[in-house]
Amino acid sequence: MKIAVASDHGGYRLKERIKEYLRSRNIEVMDLGTDSEESVDYPVYGKSCAEAVASGKADRGIVCCGTGIGISIAANKVKGIRCALCTDVNMAEMTRKHNDANMLAMGGRTTDEETALKITEKWLDTEFEGGRHQRRVDMLNSM
Ligand code: RB5
Repeated sequence: MKIAVASDHGGYRLKERIKEYLRSRNIEVMDLGTDSEESVDYPVYGKSCAEAVASGKADRGIVCCGTGIGISIAANKVKGIRCALCTDVNMAEMTRKHNDANMLAMGGRTTDEETALKITEKWLDTEFEGGRHQRRVDMLNSM
């Protein structure tokens, strides 16, 4: 599995920690920036990560900004993306089971590192349930 990651300055440190975690699991990482805590614009990074996933260059994507809100809004503007902002492990589990979320967003200023890694682990390891949820995901994809 290849995971694309991206962040703005507010999510930079968390993105770096997530990269380490992914690599510790031998997951290939495509890092689309940013590369420091210097101020940048989150829509740029949300879009590039979402385009990597939508085009198939990456299997899934993880994005971080200060709250996770702005960058998830940006990602969800790209057709085919279902980016879920998660603040706890249950949300990560449910968004994989029910929404087949192909991107995960978290806030570097709102979610502590330990929780963020638990969220990431659950999101990576939970399968989509399909069934009645497939119809709803198809509806999302047709919008
Ligand atoms: C940047 O200051 C901040 O607005 C951004 O990281 C994010 O929280 C936006 O939703």
